[in-house]
Amino acid sequence: MIKDLQQKILELKKEKDVCILAHSYMSEDVCEVADFVGDSYALAVKAKSAPQSTVIMCGVRFMAETVKMLSPQKKVYLSHSEAGCPMAEQMDRDVIAEVKKMYPDYAVVAYINTTAELKTIADYCVTSSSAVKICKAIPEKNILFIPDINLGTYVKNQIPEKNFKLLSGGCPTHARIEKNEVLAAKKLHSEALVLVHPECRPEVAALADYIGSTSGIMDYAIKSDKKEFIIGTENSIVQHLQFKCPDKKLYALSKNFICPNMKLTTLPDVYACLTGNGGEEIFLDEQTRVAAVKCIDKMIELGG
Ligand code: 13P
Ligand code: SF4
Repeated sequence: MIKDLQQKILELKKEKDVCILAHSYMSEDVCEVADFVGDSYALAVKAKSAPQSTVIMCGVRFMAETVKMLSPQKKVYLSHSEAGCPMAEQMDRDVIAEVKKMYPDYAVVAYINTTAELKTIADYCVTSSSAVKICKAIPEKNILFIPDINLGTYVKNQIPEKNFKLLSGGCPTHARIEKNEVLAAKKLHSEALVLVHPECRPEVAALADYIGSTSGIMDYAIKSDKKEFIIGTENSIVQHLQFKCPDKKLYALSKNFICPNMKLTTLPDVYACLTGNGGEEIFLDEQTRVAAVKCIDKMIELGG
């Protein structure tokens, strides 16, 4: 059944000149039909160069908006219309505009997990894999980092020479994980290295052997000589890694490490989107797009 549906999707995407992009939190069956699977930085870069006239983003809304910002001439679809990222909706443009007035000499650095509207007042955009590099590279010494306080704290700790103001937003899925869960997992698997996403709380990240983006975590586990890993991000990464390195032992840091938003998209949703029976086409008004894409362009320029 799955193979049949995958075959139909592969044929349809070729026939309709569609590029399927999938975030690494998608399930294995969705990743298998994608032209490209990656973290949010790699997806943004790929979106720019994809030659197809249509893109289906299997991920969450801000990722599809990023594709539309970078490729306004393309038809861009979000494969499941309700797949949003709660963190992206946490901060309102007008509120941040007021905060900006309070700190006029601070550059606003926005995590890519934000709405297109909020990006219009950001000076720079970053992803989890590019945040440290970009915050180091920008000329400004003072940075107002929005919205993720955990990622912001991680970046701040890597760049002590700069001044950071952080606001208290974040990812409900990653922020739910507590220090005692890491300690329990380490006790259970004493030989395993702990790999966590920087959206985790600082006290969780402090116990990690490696902190990085979804792709960063996967690369680390694949390339490492070590054989056991506790994975501190969405549990789909445990599954993908187990396929990629069957000889290694991979443990979920918590059985609750599940992003309900990323889990919405299924293989039948991708099919429905391709056949015009599902998904949602993304539209951005040109004024918002032009204002928001500036910080994404800078991100790609500085992120390399
Ligand atoms: P990445 O930058 O690792 O893709 O993270 C995106 C995300 O939403 C993690 O929760
Ligand atoms: Fe958003 Fe967190 Fe889900 Fe990533 S894991 S999409 S940041 S809610």
